[in-house]
Amino acid sequence: MKKRFFTGLVLVCMSILPTMAQWGRPVDYSAGPGLKDAYKDYFTIGVAVNKTNISDPAQTAIIKKQFNSVTAENAWKPGEIHPKEGVWNFGLADSIANFCRENGIKMRGHCLCWHSQFADWMFTDKKGKPVKKEVFYQRLREHIHTVVNRYKDVVYAWDVVNEAMADDGRPFEFVNGKMVPASPYRQSRHFKLCGDEFIAKAFEFAREADPTGVLIYNDYSCVDNGKRERIYNMVKKMKDAGVPIDGIGMQGHYNIYFPDEEQLEKAINRFKEIVNIIHITELDLRTNTESGGQLMFARGEAKPQAPYIGTLQEDQYARLFKVFRKHADVIKNVTFWNLSDKDSWLGVNNHPLPFDENFKAKRSLQIIREFDAAADKRVPKDDWVPNPMNQPGQEYPQVNSEGFARFRVVAPDAKSVIVSLGLGGRGGTVLRKDKNGVWTGTTEGPMDPGFHYYHLTIDGGVFNDPGTHNYFGSCRWESGIEIPAPDQDFYAWRKDIPHGNIQQVNFWSESTGKMQTANVYLPSGYGKLVKGKNGKLTQERYPVLYLQHGWGENETSWPVQGKAGIIMDNLIADGKIKPFIVVMAYGLTNDFKFGTIGKFTAEEFEKLLIDELMPVIDKQFLTKPDKWNRALAGLSMGGMETKLITLRRPEVFGYWGLLSGGQYAPDEIKDPKVVKYIFEGCGDKENPDGINKSVADLKAAGYNAEGLISEGTAHEFLTWRRCLYQMAQSLFK
Ligand code: XIL
Repeated sequence: MKKRFFTGLVLVCMSILPTMAQWGRPVDYSAGPGLKDAYKDYFTIGVAVNKTNISDPAQTAIIKKQFNSVTAENAWKPGEIHPKEGVWNFGLADSIANFCRENGIKMRGHCLCWHSQFADWMFTDKKGKPVKKEVFYQRLREHIHTVVNRYKDVVYAWDVVNEAMADDGRPFEFVNGKMVPASPYRQSRHFKLCGDEFIAKAFEFAREADPTGVLIYNDYSCVDNGKRERIYNMVKKMKDAGVPIDGIGMQGHYNIYFPDEEQLEKAINRFKEIVNIIHITELDLRTNTESGGQLMFARGEAKPQAPYIGTLQEDQYARLFKVFRKHADVIKNVTFWNLSDKDSWLGVNNHPLPFDENFKAKRSLQIIREFDAAADKRVPKDDWVPNPMNQPGQEYPQVNSEGFARFRVVAPDAKSVIVSLGLGGRGGTVLRKDKNGVWTGTTEGPMDPGFHYYHLTIDGGVFNDPGTHNYFGSCRWESGIEIPAPDQDFYAWRKDIPHGNIQQVNFWSESTGKMQTANVYLPSGYGKLVKGKNGKLTQERYPVLYLQHGWGENETSWPVQGKAGIIMDNLIADGKIKPFIVVMAYGLTNDFKFGTIGKFTAEEFEKLLIDELMPVIDKQFLTKPDKWNRALAGLSMGGMETKLITLRRPEVFGYWGLLSGGQYAPDEIKDPKVVKYIFEGCGDKENPDGINKSVADLKAAGYNAEGLISEGTAHEFLTWRRCLYQMAQSLFK
């Protein structure tokens, strides 16, 4: 029995915390198809590799599963493969090509002509004197032909020229003492010797050597307005002149804040005007505000990534890939620059990639992979109204009839604002700042109906949303939002019926050495005179339901977000139940720390409830103080308490209810006569099979048991409101 009970505890606990994974159980974010398979209808997915990546079996396994395009990170660069005239380092370059040949993976050839990591010997003669451009072209041609011919069997696209355009931020320059508009070209040795003709030549040489390969001009910061236009102008000019440029490579060294979708789309759309092939050639997302392809960047302090930074990165990856998918008509490849954070040229502490420093997949990988193609096109219905839980006069947050929620937070100098509410286990909804410094954002899809706690994370600090009221949950006052539910009438205020009231009872608890609080619902008409058994008028007495909240909540949770009083009023007014009292006490559950769940016995609360609170209630209120007029029920942790206490003290309570709080097994109770009614319920997104089985077993063993599976809900208050509504109708009969 002990063992079964313990398993029960663990099960309850798992349902209390859907994110339990973060509490120790590791999640394999790489489970499921590889990225290449998830994106087979869109574009190929690539990775830049180094020597270890292609020799360590664990790493090759990742490459083979996830990617169908490979770029040599450094091994094919002119300075590496061809460091001196007549000297060729084919070793590593061949290993990478052979790895790809053996595994049927096609390659991007990176890169044939670049100012950095270049074969600078091409610019000088044996005596160190500068050579004429004709000599340079001859050497470049020989280089390109050699590399292309050696590898073209395995290569589908070449980065022919890399980074030939100047960066933003230098509109003018001094030439011969005169200020003139700055050159659009990078002032490389190539440019200084040949002007932009070297670009045309490189493409011509590549085309000669590989008549069918895709020839790409590759550069970084393509989303910067100035650089975008410089690249556009250059490629257009070249193409107009017949230079064989097939496509543009947008490197994609971005960060978690930049670019936004609009800026990225601007570049893609602009390039679409002149090419029909775009590759995202070097994607990584720094966790600081830097971007671009310069070799100057902060490698970051050696510290683990804060969770909110992880959320921002996941969100940014999700947004970028959504844009890439939208433009899959031109985007033919997306390549990550490096396999893991450990390999990243940005340093491990920038955490830029979907695999961490131990080659473990991050949630980013899952988020990139598990996109919802239908959601890509979905636009929420424009029938927004302020959330019913808003503070007076507050327009935001808002909800629409489909269950989307949208948020608005004014925080002009903040760097990031995240709303903890979101779909699919993501860290929430990341807001983006508009031009007025106002942060806005909409949930990715419809939320479950009913009440949700949430908060804001602004630059890593946790705050409440000033738009809404606060509700006690997660051991703190949280913001709350109410998504319209199809059956919301059963917990809606009605003007045409009598209303009960909720009183606060404060009492001294000897066992805890503190004043404690309970809220007590008294039905309308409480205190009225009725004829007693002896025919004399006497005040009516009522049965009592003790109704417990969950972990992180308190005695206000049922009356406020649980809407217990409204539900009771409506049931009574509709003649569905005879009036009874509901006592909602603080269950001390917040003093219980996670990690000690195996030791949780609810003994402290049992003492407080039965020895201290109950006498106060029976003294102060018109109760029927006996077992067959007393029920105990609770949600989540309150359900655990209910189960523990009812089994230990069956003489106290005649009706038992577990709301997302576990199940009873017949052999735990042993005697159907000790309990008149057992209720068990949960959301259909929790553990409905467990509830259904338990209720069936109880019934078969002769217990009066009833179950409820709440449609479309999880471990949240709409489940429990529905449970209360259902359970109340069978109590005290
Ligand atoms: C980087 C490599 O990742 C580093 O190992 C090397 O030290 C410098 O170059 N743009 C490019 C890539 O086109 O070739 C660069 O790769 C990153 C910026």
